[in-house]
Amino acid sequence: MPRPQLVVLSGAGISAESGIPTFRDADGLWEGHDIMEVASPQGWNANPELVLEFYNQRRKAALEASPNTGHKILASLEQYFEVTVITQNVDNLHESAGSTRVIHLHGELFKSRSTIDSSLVYPIDGWELKLGDLCKKGSQLRPHIVWFGEEVPMMEQATIICNSADILVVVGTSLIVYPAAGLLNFVNSQIPKYVINPNMPQIDPMPNLHLIHKGAGEGLTELKEILVKN
Ligand code: APR
Repeated sequence: MPRPQLVVLSGAGISAESGIPTFRDADGLWEGHDIMEVASPQGWNANPELVLEFYNQRRKAALEASPNTGHKILASLEQYFEVTVITQNVDNLHESAGSTRVIHLHGELFKSRSTIDSSLVYPIDGWELKLGDLCKKGSQLRPHIVWFGEEVPMMEQATIICNSADILVVVGTSLIVYPAAGLLNFVNSQIPKYVINPNMPQIDPMPNLHLIHKGAGEGLTELKEILVKN
């Protein structure tokens, strides 16, 4: 008997309890920075050093963070379900907690890639990526991040996975940024859908929707009891 497919869509909120700021909460990342200056191709072309520094600071913070209860509970659910975590986060806390199938829709903080050949992707050891760090073809390395206005290459794979989900868990996302936020519409409308957020985003009514108005750690603890008991 194949185990049920549990699909998770996570956002910055699941890393908040690890001390990593979200984007749109009070004193979030987008309060202190202009998105277009630090997270867009235009910003990169105008001032690559500013962009490199923005991601260096985020990488430094992520290096000092540890997975929290929420990350660990999602990893523990692999004992009971086929779990795929589709995350908008670029930190590696899901993997550090033990999740084995993680899809990063918006890229990965600890990887860089060539600016002339996007298939050339390199791990970043430590926290710094600098001007003058070049790919093997001699071009400047950029953060391996999906910037605003860029394609989301993993989206097709994510929609296919959502199509076969038996359970959907949405945790720690404001569901503002598309196409990621649209994944809710790619699951079978009849499956149970759990949304965990202390500040619940607006969600259109849909069947079998369960809203848990709590933080990731508390909410996932509650959800695990529901899922594992059934
Ligand atoms: N537990 C769970 N959720 C939380 C917690 C917590 N402890 N603290 C905050 N949240 C929720 C907030 O209520 C909010 O709904 O996390 C969400 C964070 O929303 P955003 O800051 O918009 O982050 P996210 O949804 O991941 O943004 C999506 O936007 O800027 C781009 O590429 C960036 O991947 C990011 C995308």
